[in-house]
Amino acid sequence: MTATLPTSSDLVSLVKRAALAPSSHNTQPWHFRITGATVDLFADPTRALPVNDPDDRELTISCGCALMNLRVAAAARGLDSEVTLLPRREESDWLARVRLEPRAAGAAADAALSEHIERRHTYRKRFRPAAVSEATIERLVAAAAAEGGWFHPVLEEPDRQRLAQLVAEGDTQQWANPSWRRELAAWMHPRRRGDGLTVSALAAPIAHAIVRTFDMGQGIAAKDRDLADASPLLAILGTERDEIRDWLLAGQALERVVLTACQSGLQASFLNQPVQVASLRPKLRDVAGRAVPQVLLRLGEPMDEPVAAPRRAVADIVEAPP
Ligand SMILES: Cc1cc2nc3c(=O)[nH]c(=O)nc-3n(C[C@H](O)[C@H](O)[C@H](O)COP(=O)(O)O)c2cc1C
Repeated sequence: MTATLPTSSDLVSLVKRAALAPSSHNTQPWHFRITGATVDLFADPTRALPVNDPDDRELTISCGCALMNLRVAAAARGLDSEVTLLPRREESDWLARVRLEPRAAGAAADAALSEHIERRHTYRKRFRPAAVSEATIERLVAAAAAEGGWFHPVLEEPDRQRLAQLVAEGDTQQWANPSWRRELAAWMHPRRRGDGLTVSALAAPIAHAIVRTFDMGQGIAAKDRDLADASPLLAILGTERDEIRDWLLAGQALERVVLTACQSGLQASFLNQPVQVASLRPKLRDVAGRAVPQVLLRLGEPMDEPVAAPRRAVADIVEAPP
């Protein structure tokens, strides 16, 4: 741990870890600029998903996740982060300014979360059928609250069934939309591209054609319903309001939750269809009993070692003095 002023290359290393955050369709919709001991975070609108995410809500949440990783990675380097969200209202892509300073004294609790940045992955398979303890759930609730969000575990029937049904309905509606399928296909890439949802280079052209052409909603809905049913923990994460600032809070809350989950041996996965389909979101709010749902998560112990999704080269996402 260093308690000296960070160099530009220190900050590039922090940005590299920030970019291990989750993002919808693995678009990695962020850009960083380093000036002295300051890191500015920008949204990259060229990586938006206009059909899946017409308001850039998930894009902004993804950037919030990267911001949380940056703060946690900085803590592990002995640096305090002073964060200003939306530093200039009229420049809406400029999401945050982070000033990094050597920590005066004391240990940061966040430093312990840092080692989970590399261990966290979206786990898309079934989890082990092991219950998540009440103590762990309490830690996840506290993690979201610490960032101005809320985490609502959905533990009982019939609410779990209602969630599984909403996910299936979301799948059916999304897959019935050819524009949504085209956008999904456009983000299915061979691993070497460094972004998107990985398909093998050999299978990519066929996979694209299938996704663009066929409505596979029924099959996907059945599979997702099974995954939801079998999940040890289903939970809705949300915020009090639904503005750009709230999406940044949601992202930071989400990343603190998934890193905290990872610390307890859990991984998470997303079932966001009922948030993404506008007509279903009020129904999700009814299940949570509070506004405003931002993501639907399933959590549990993975059956096997999760595979890391690809990332863009750090040189492509950061501007830094030599
Ligand atoms: C805001 C947000 C929304 C997401 N929505 C979905 C989703 O609906 N379905 C899904 O399978 N994964 C979803 N993901 C997970 C991403 O696909 C995943 O983060 C990305 O592929 C990178 O993989 P990694 O999380 O393992 O690093 C979402 C992630 C974020 C941050």
